[in-house]
Amino acid sequence: MTISFQNQVAVVTGAGGGLGRTYALMLASKGAQVVVNDFGGSVKGDLNSNSGATRPADKVVSEIIASGGIAIANYDSVENGSKIIETAIKSFGKIDILINNAGILRDVSFGKMTEKDFDLIMEIHLKGTYNCCKAAWPHMQKQNYGRIIVTSSAAGLFGNFGQVNYSSAKSSLLGFGKSLAFEGARKNIFVNCIAPLAGTRMTETIMSKDLVDALRPQYVTPVVCYLVSKNCKENGSVFEIGAGWVAKVRHERSPGYFFPLNFSPENVETHWNEVINFSNTKKKHLS
Ligand code: NAI
Repeated sequence: MTISFQNQVAVVTGAGGGLGRTYALMLASKGAQVVVNDFGGSVKGDLNSNSGATRPADKVVSEIIASGGIAIANYDSVENGSKIIETAIKSFGKIDILINNAGILRDVSFGKMTEKDFDLIMEIHLKGTYNCCKAAWPHMQKQNYGRIIVTSSAAGLFGNFGQVNYSSAKSSLLGFGKSLAFEGARKNIFVNCIAPLAGTRMTETIMSKDLVDALRPQYVTPVVCYLVSKNCKENGSVFEIGAGWVAKVRHERSPGYFFPLNFSPENVETHWNEVINFSNTKKKHLS
């Protein structure tokens, strides 16, 4: 079925580059009126020369307008999420789609991590997503419609060396998205989490140039656009997406072991292999 965003308003945070830019371009090409948000800072979250006259959000808005689309720039940090949503309401009268995409990195081993490294990552990823969702929520509830993307990461799903701060934020976002999905369901507000993989300025420091070039953000974009469309009924799910591959992710629980209620630590040790054994069993899953 054709997917169209005609008469819909979308906000994409961190849309001045990388993945967010591609979401904004595709949504606009399919008819959405788009708020292109980007504060124009460095990958570590510092404001830099990008935030001058040629802000990244402006460039993406120009691209959209040049292709005949409708878009407006917003330069607020997601720390001020209400201002970003206000831009959508003031400019276009509503908000149907919110893609929480803005993000930064402060990778460092835990021993060397400062409190600021930890707090800033939580502030931008987790609190930034909260701020934008909180401001969009009443509008979506009132109109009985909304589509929200929460951006997690493989680091949030599986952990990663040197990313205790980032993994914490990205894994918190899974809980955030899944719980918000329960609350949104009866108002036709669907929330899904993604763990993308793409060659962007964020990954160019850890990937070879070949890989960065091969893993184009555009190979993630169609999945995200489908997830925020009217056509999609998915809610509360988590997807890994990259290189044209997409897979749904779920937790798996071992069948476990029931101890008699007077059990001791020694009993636990004796049966530990049964507790952790996933094999040879009828599988039960927690989605
Ligand atoms: P990117 O660095 O290319 O783009 C992120 C954009 O967000 C930048 O344009 C930046 O200016 C903007 N931004 C940063 N902080 C902001 C703030 N406080 N307010 C508004 N805008 C802000 O990064 P990329 O790779 O496109 O990442 C997008 C999202 O996907 C991020 O949340 C990232 O953590 C996540 N992600 C990306 C992966 C990848 O392989 N590229 C892997 C896993 C997750």
